[in-house]
Amino acid sequence: MSQRILHVIGSPRGERSRSGMVARRLIDGLVAASPGSTAETLDPYSAGLPALTGPVIEGRYALIEGRDVADEVRSAWAQIGEAVAHFLSFDTVVFSVPMWNFGIPWQLKQYIDTITQPGMAFRVSEAGVEGLGAGKRAILVASGALDIRPGSPGAELDHQVRFMQAWLGFIGITDVHVVHLRPTYGPPEAVEAAMAEAYASAEALVADLSRAPRV
Ligand SMILES: Cc1cc2nc3c(=O)[nH]c(=O)nc-3n(C[C@H](O)[C@H](O)[C@H](O)COP(=O)(O)O)c2cc1C
Repeated sequence: MSQRILHVIGSPRGERSRSGMVARRLIDGLVAASPGSTAETLDPYSAGLPALTGPVIEGRYALIEGRDVADEVRSAWAQIGEAVAHFLSFDTVVFSVPMWNFGIPWQLKQYIDTITQPGMAFRVSEAGVEGLGAGKRAILVASGALDIRPGSPGAELDHQVRFMQAWLGFIGITDVHVVHLRPTYGPPEAVEAAMAEAYASAEALVADLSRAPRV
């Protein structure tokens, strides 16, 4: 089945980004496996996201309380609404996401803070929080100099993959797959082995996701 895929670029390193290299290979595989599929990229580093200033944030609280946003921030909120609608228009979102100081790069966090808005990405009712991204799939290509993937020593320091999974769950995306790319620092042979393992995981994931569902 064809799908629309968005690549959210979490690293500012362009062509040199290792997570980006693996994400691009993975996306090429997904597109090749399902004819008619298309892929777009979104680079938070150049997307011109509106700044979440004090007055813009007052608009968020106005929306939560069911009021209109103030006139002075109306155009910022129109931009935010477009960013959320754009994100939610895709079937699959692939994030290339390096670990930065145990978390994620700040521009990716800015994108997440921009699009996680009440009434747009989630809804709060008496029944609780409802994520409006339900039914979508997310794939994380998670890179790091240290190999602190879940289950390994030091994994308690992980605020990268665990944060991404928690946030995606909050907006209703529970079909989440992770390709680990680590360690990316150390002897060249260790880094090359990490790259080879990540490419192999990406290919295996593409094969798995592209298998026709059983009837
Ligand atoms: C500002 C900064 C902070 C970093 N912090 C960590 C860290 O806490 N843990 C880690 O394992 N690697 C850390 N790294 C290394 C990157 O995660 C690693 O080089 C990764 O492979 C970069 O992915 P990329 O090539 O896609 O940008 C950091 C790199 C930078 C630039």
